[in-house]
Amino acid sequence: MDDRAIEHEPVLCDEVLATLGPGPGQVIVDATVGHGGHAGRFAEAIGERGWLIGLDVDAGNLERARARLGSDSPGRPRIDLIRANFRELPAILAGLRLARVDLIFADLGVSTDQLLDASRGLTFSEDGPLDMRLDDRLDRTAADLVNSLGEGELSDLIYVNSQERYSRRIAKRICEARRNVRIRTTQQLVRIVCSAVGAGPESRREKIHPATRTFLALRMAVNDELGSLASLLSAAPRWLSPGGRIGVISFHSGEDRLVKQDFLDRKRAALYELETRKPVRPSDEEMRRNPRSRSAKLRVARRTATPVDAGL
Ligand SMILES: C[S@@+](CC[C@H](N)C(=O)[O-])C[C@H]1O[C@@H](n2cnc3c(N)ncnc32)[C@H](O)[C@@H]1O
Repeated sequence: MDDRAIEHEPVLCDEVLATLGPGPGQVIVDATVGHGGHAGRFAEAIGERGWLIGLDVDAGNLERARARLGSDSPGRPRIDLIRANFRELPAILAGLRLARVDLIFADLGVSTDQLLDASRGLTFSEDGPLDMRLDDRLDRTAADLVNSLGEGELSDLIYVNSQERYSRRIAKRICEARRNVRIRTTQQLVRIVCSAVGAGPESRREKIHPATRTFLALRMAVNDELGSLASLLSAAPRWLSPGGRIGVISFHSGEDRLVKQDFLDRKRAALYELETRKPVRPSDEEMRRNPRSRSAKLRVARRTATPVDAGL
């Protein structure tokens, strides 16, 4: 299978447009440009006087966004696509000599092709190297973590990132297994997790595969996903124009909690107004069409005119 041919279907697209309200001439940061699905809609909305800055850590996805967003179409805004982690947003905007932007958007996690590409090690359904890096310039893979962390550290990492209730047993079994042989592949880890929780997928009452949470926890750690998100959220008020908006789509409770708490803290500091009191969820129709959208939650906040120094 040519994984690169898999299209990523953007989630909550109409809802993103409705709540962020991009308009002609605006400057927008799509912090996770991916295949350019949301970005294409932003580009149409802001038109030729607008400026779209798209970031992604994955060089392959950035190329796909480049192909999709075109280069010379009439009415197209200025588009800068930059390979970077969104935690570097302040340096990137300063480098582009931008003092403020109108919108910051992040659609967190991984794209469908990244998830299904066995060579990246993100899926427990197929065998592949236990890598999990979204950015192949990072030095630590998931295999490095499972083969080097102490049992307590592994157990904490799995529990804190994914609330896996069998984290201790899984960490113990990983440490036992690696005494004999280095854990290098996704299927080695799947077998270890299944043996730690007492069997294969069928024997647990939960609907999800027994390795789901362990894989999620490791992916989050390898890519420092919560740390990057916290940096983006903390930088945003300084870079948003008064009236500008920030929108984040998250896919699991750890991310959503961080976004929710950040927006509430900034509201208390008079820096934000909440545009979404409750997270926006996909319609039944979208969930049927695109099952990956099921866990998506969109939250949006609007920047007030309060100076950052007064509010932080
Ligand atoms: C869910 S996909 C985004 C899909 C995109 N909205 C679209 O419509 O095609 C998430 C993307 O974010 C990228 N990504 C994840 N963490 C990132 C980070 N900290 N900084 C920049 N890009 C990141 C991934 O490589 C992936 O391409």
